[in-house]
Amino acid sequence: PLSLILDGDPGTDDLLAWMWVLALPKRARVLGITAVNGNVTLDRTAANALAFLDYIGGPDIPVHAGARAPLDRDDPPAGDGAFSETGLGELRLPPSLRRLASHDAVGWMAQTLRAHPVRSVILVATGPLTNLALLRREAPDAYARIDRIVAMGGSFAPLPPNFVRRGNVTPWAEFNFWMDAAAAQSVLNGGVPVLLAPADVTHQLVSDPARLARARALPLFGQEVALMLNAPYHLDKPKFHTDGAFLHDPTAVACLFYPEMFETVRAQAHVVQEGTGLGAGLMLPDGAGGVEVAVRVKDTDAFYARLFDDLAAHYA
Ligand code: BDR
Ligand code: CA
Repeated sequence: PLSLILDGDPGTDDLLAWMWVLALPKRARVLGITAVNGNVTLDRTAANALAFLDYIGGPDIPVHAGARAPLDRDDPPAGDGAFSETGLGELRLPPSLRRLASHDAVGWMAQTLRAHPVRSVILVATGPLTNLALLRREAPDAYARIDRIVAMGGSFAPLPPNFVRRGNVTPWAEFNFWMDAAAAQSVLNGGVPVLLAPADVTHQLVSDPARLARARALPLFGQEVALMLNAPYHLDKPKFHTDGAFLHDPTAVACLFYPEMFETVRAQAHVVQEGTGLGAGLMLPDGAGGVEVAVRVKDTDAFYARLFDDLAAHYA
């Protein structure tokens, strides 16, 4: 199986992404989870990770808390409230009996990468890329050992005159890259191969009422999965006029395990920083290059079928 580190900011869709990974124990071994500030504060994202592992009866995976604020900032900008002030939307989780393994996610990642063969560990990143950018800065030798980074974030929103809204924070900027544009720019140009699921592709996956009904019919955790799928609908509906919420973080998991479901292009991604008037976090493609970007889900029904089948096969 692949050896993975799951880095994210749960956030219901981070949890669903992790639930999917943990449903595939023959294909993936999770070395640890690293939490980052994002959807909600670090304390909450870390606590949510622990509580969710308990709730689903997950394996005893170490959870490490990482960055409290974006790169070179003391205070995080307020999140977008996508998943309410708990980060969990309508999901209610009892507090966990598990404890954090450490408050030094970056140190733990460095140690773990050095203890494993070069290019044998994959990072699945579903939040702002702060922890990874800090690892690159503080332990470049360990960072260079990562096999690849599979991440959800950013958008290649077409600029005027062909403007199409892709940003869920500003019209252009997707939340993870908006929250820490400097980290995104560092990781996308950091020398380790990146496979990216940007908003352009996650916006093709709409959890409409029929799909929510299929989720509710799962043998176990059906209600919870439906709530997780639907959580950002209140935010997506007024901005994008969809008939369901977009599905973000699980798309990164699918890019890793089911690459045949996506069309990808190569891009040298440049992440626009503050002060440009475009809204920090917009990605501009910049010739052929090191980032592989998913641009199309070939068959969205097949995508949801995979998700639901994998969940049903493991959680029963
Ligand atoms: C991303 O932002 C967060 O709200 C989600 O968890 C996802 O990682 C989508 O823009
Ligand atoms: Ca996330």
